[in-house]
Amino acid sequence: MRKKVTVVGAGNVGASCALRIADKELADVVLVDIVEGVPQGKGLDMLESGPVQGYDVSIVGTNGYEATANSDVVVITAGFPRKPGMSRDDLLLANYDIVSNAAKQAAAYSPNAVLVVVTNPLDAMCWTAFKVSGFPKQRVVGMAGILDTARFRTFIAEELGVSVESVTALVMGGHGDTMVPLVRLASVSGIPLAELLDQATIDRLVQRTRDGGAEIVKYLKTGSAYYAPSASAVEMVESVIKDKKKVLPCSAYLEGEYGFTGVFAGVPVTLGAAGIEKIYEVKLSQAEQSMLAKSAASVEELIDILKRKMAS
Ligand code: NAI
Ligand code: 2OP
Repeated sequence: MRKKVTVVGAGNVGASCALRIADKELADVVLVDIVEGVPQGKGLDMLESGPVQGYDVSIVGTNGYEATANSDVVVITAGFPRKPGMSRDDLLLANYDIVSNAAKQAAAYSPNAVLVVVTNPLDAMCWTAFKVSGFPKQRVVGMAGILDTARFRTFIAEELGVSVESVTALVMGGHGDTMVPLVRLASVSGIPLAELLDQATIDRLVQRTRDGGAEIVKYLKTGSAYYAPSASAVEMVESVIKDKKKVLPCSAYLEGEYGFTGVFAGVPVTLGAAGIEKIYEVKLSQAEQSMLAKSAASVEELIDILKRKMAS
């Protein structure tokens, strides 16, 4: 039997995810959005690309959750994107209601699914989906680290004039201005980055990575990035659907790892059919650990706002 993936939110990221899933023939796709006609129209349009692209998956657009029943993976992209001048955190309260509703409905119809959260502010929305769904922590995972790492790899490759495939890197922490690109672990086919670039250049690439989302928002003006985000989310979907057990930087619920508890943050994990099958605790230097602590603290501040909202 074919696998089934629901994508909630048929906007830029959601529709791109749906199309990438179909193109890779990973699963049947159900596309959900609150706007009447949009998921239906986009879903049908994608279905009609099948004969040309050579995929046989079914793609259905809908405004309800009935058709999502028994999905293997649910990707949550519903919510507002940021506009120029806004931080991801500015989206907190508006997107809390949207993600709460999506996670509740998705969990009710697909109690065994893995939830892949994309909506911003990412780590706080993962926490929201985790609390509302009642799912075990292994089955709620956020997409950000793959995207942030992909940006870092792109900038390194561009600077050195080498293939992006030769560049390995790891960006940890929350998906915000305090994310932690780990320069010490970046390499080009095993050659440490510090042997290839001077410190000022590395600092510039690190800052460009941290500002990577804002750089795209500044160009687009009416929304945020979606090609690299959808590619990143679909890498996670593929690892779950095919039980590939890829080791990927993802937002995971921490219970003591790296010294943090009750918070989501980007860490390397093994992602397989069961969701997060392992969290890796990389040995960090004192400086790296304190950057990670700052990043986790900024996520905690948002979670505290949500806890107060839930209690009121
Ligand atoms: P978009 O505005 O193009 O699409 C959002 C869609 O969500 C719209 O079609 C809207 O109708 C729908 N929606 C709103 N409320 C809904 C509900 N209750 N149920 C179902 N659908 C609903 O925005 P885009 O560019 O697709 O971004 C979506 C979210 O993903 C934003 O919060 C954005 O910040 C976030 N994002 C996160 C990234 C990450 O690295 N984690 C990367 C890129 C985007
Ligand atoms: C990004 O980093 C908007 O979070 C999104 O592009």
